[in-house]
Amino acid sequence: MDDRNPVVELALRRGFVMPSSEIYGGLAGFYDYGPVGTLMKNKLISLWRHHCIRKEGYVEIDGANILREEVLKASGHVKSFTDPLTRCSKCKNSFRADHLVEEATGQRVEGLDANQLTKKLEKVKCPNCGGKLSKVELFHTMFDVRAGTSEGTRAYLRPETAQSIFINFPRLFSVTREKLPLGVGQVGRAFRNEISPRNFLIRMREFTQMEIEIFLSPDQLDSHPNWNEIKDVKLRLVKQDGKEVETTPEEMVRQKIAPNQYLAYWVGKAWLFYSALGIPRKNMRMKHLPKDETPFYSKSNFDLEVKTSFGWKEALGTAYRTDHDLSEHAKLSGKKMEAMFENGKIIPHVIEPSWGVDRPFYMILEAAYRPKTKEKDWEWLQLPPVIAPYISAVFPLMRKDGQPEKALEVTKNLLEKGFDVFYDKTGSIGKRYARADEIGTPFCITIDYDTAKDNTVTLRHRDTGKQDRVKIEELPKLLGEALNFELNA
Ligand code: ATP
Ligand code: GLY
Repeated sequence: MDDRNPVVELALRRGFVMPSSEIYGGLAGFYDYGPVGTLMKNKLISLWRHHCIRKEGYVEIDGANILREEVLKASGHVKSFTDPLTRCSKCKNSFRADHLVEEATGQRVEGLDANQLTKKLEKVKCPNCGGKLSKVELFHTMFDVRAGTSEGTRAYLRPETAQSIFINFPRLFSVTREKLPLGVGQVGRAFRNEISPRNFLIRMREFTQMEIEIFLSPDQLDSHPNWNEIKDVKLRLVKQDGKEVETTPEEMVRQKIAPNQYLAYWVGKAWLFYSALGIPRKNMRMKHLPKDETPFYSKSNFDLEVKTSFGWKEALGTAYRTDHDLSEHAKLSGKKMEAMFENGKIIPHVIEPSWGVDRPFYMILEAAYRPKTKEKDWEWLQLPPVIAPYISAVFPLMRKDGQPEKALEVTKNLLEKGFDVFYDKTGSIGKRYARADEIGTPFCITIDYDTAKDNTVTLRHRDTGKQDRVKIEELPKLLGEALNFELNA
């Protein structure tokens, strides 16, 4: 395991995440989510589903992970999806050449070609053993596969979920009653054979994305129906020239920093979503990608970057993909990728909020991490209740006098009402609080001797340690209120 830090340690110790293939030595860049991690990851996805799909009136698909070569030829990935690679002549380790130069010189080198990077690497030695580094070559980062026996059909594990949406556009347009804008989202795996996977969940070889492709007429780009909810979100923007400014989506459109309202809307919404999930404002910045860093398919791109213990890292991107993908698929497949709009046929343009799941998952964990203090003698996670694996634990104070039975009954009733709660009867009450805090559980409910008399329990609050005496029948309301999650500018 690389990159030990207390958050990674806690995530591994408590089963948020597990290195995949671990009993055989692990496989770099692959992780399995454990029980509490799966709960939390699913909650992150549910929030996205609620706020970014349902509330926007969009639909969702679930596409195949393996795509025919032609799909990725048309999208440009077969030609352009490469990273610059250098190898150490001594220890034979491989490295991302651009990352090595950036780490050694502090210079941003995105956009430089292989020759330019080779020149920049002249004075850089292998970070592992000090050996000499090779000339830079371009390494293809898609995993190729053959579908079927013998020669089979050439295919790839998809490097982004997006293409599954583009190639289905004609059917999707027809089954959704031929209206633009049409927003189609998808949660699914993407695969990239990263040269040096590292930094825990930040750079994996198999990861989850939740992406949306919003198809619309160019005439609709400046009229987002929910614009008023987002236009005033205050965010920190790193402009293309590197200068940082405070701005809002509305200002970005007015100053023509964002090419249209739809793109600015999703820039604001992403900012709002992750600040609501506990990432401190000072640790977020929205980067307007300079031309040489903008992906080949995008006319304009804004990346949300978050400061982590591994440095500033991209959490998600918002791109204006224009009609690039649909036009290229139309050319290669010979199929029409058009939509009726008003009185004519058009090739829709696309705004893409492309959100990773694993990177934000880790960023939320890191933002929530609290080390031991005098007041609290254990590490804990101050996770927003809406995303915590469990909203509450339920304990019997004593393992006798009917308390375990009552605690199990309370657990069952809360589970039936849809709350994620767990029962724990093992160890001292202090140990049970510590275990619950460590996985970010906002409340602990304890059944004690008074419960049998007046049907009350103690409700302990994770953040303050404060305990209230509450009636059992009030619990669903109290837990329900704590789970409230609004996105307000
Ligand atoms: P980077 O430059 O850091 O490699 P990227 O620009 O390649 O990132 P995108 O292609 O914009 O990333 O992918 C969209 C989102 O998918 C990212 O914002 C990130 O959350 C997620 N993602 C991309 N690559 C990885 C990876 N190797 N591991 C985990 N998540 C990833
Ligand atoms: N779909 C955009 C990306 O994965 O980068």
